Amino acid sequence: MKVIIGNDHGAVEIKQRIIKHLKTKGYEVENIGVDKGDSVDYPDIAEAACTKFQAGGYDYGIVCCGTGIGISISANKIDGIRCSLPQDCFAAEMTRKHNNPNFIAFGGRIEYKDSIEDMLDSFFDNDFEGGRHQIRVDKIMRLEK
Ligand code: RB5
Repeated sequence: MKVIIGNDHGAVEIKQRIIKHLKTKGYEVENIGVDKGDSVDYPDIAEAACTKFQAGGYDYGIVCCGTGIGISISANKIDGIRCSLPQDCFAAEMTRKHNNPNFIAFGGRIEYKDSIEDMLDSFFDNDFEGGRHQIRVDKIMRLEK
């Protein structure tokens, strides 16, 4: 499993925790985000992560900003990207099973009730269910056209 991850200055610590946890799961993680607090613009990070993802070689992308909101909105503007913003383990599990996103987003300044590690496990340890959900995902993607 190869994951690309990008973040702005509002999500340095959560990005580092995500990388550490995914590596313990044996995943390869490419970090294109910032590792210091210097201010950057989250749409630029979303564009860089999604463009690299679209070029191929990655299974998933993760983007993080202070809330996860701005960077997920940005990612979802890019053709072919379906970025979820789960708020807890239940949402992380359900979005994998039902929405089959190729990107997930988190917020470094959000106080989640579940740990980021548990949310990642809820996402990555489940599978897309297909069937009626595939029909709905296809309809989502047709909205791009
Ligand atoms: C940056 O200060 C902040 O606006 C950004 O990280 C994010 O929260 C935007 O949605």
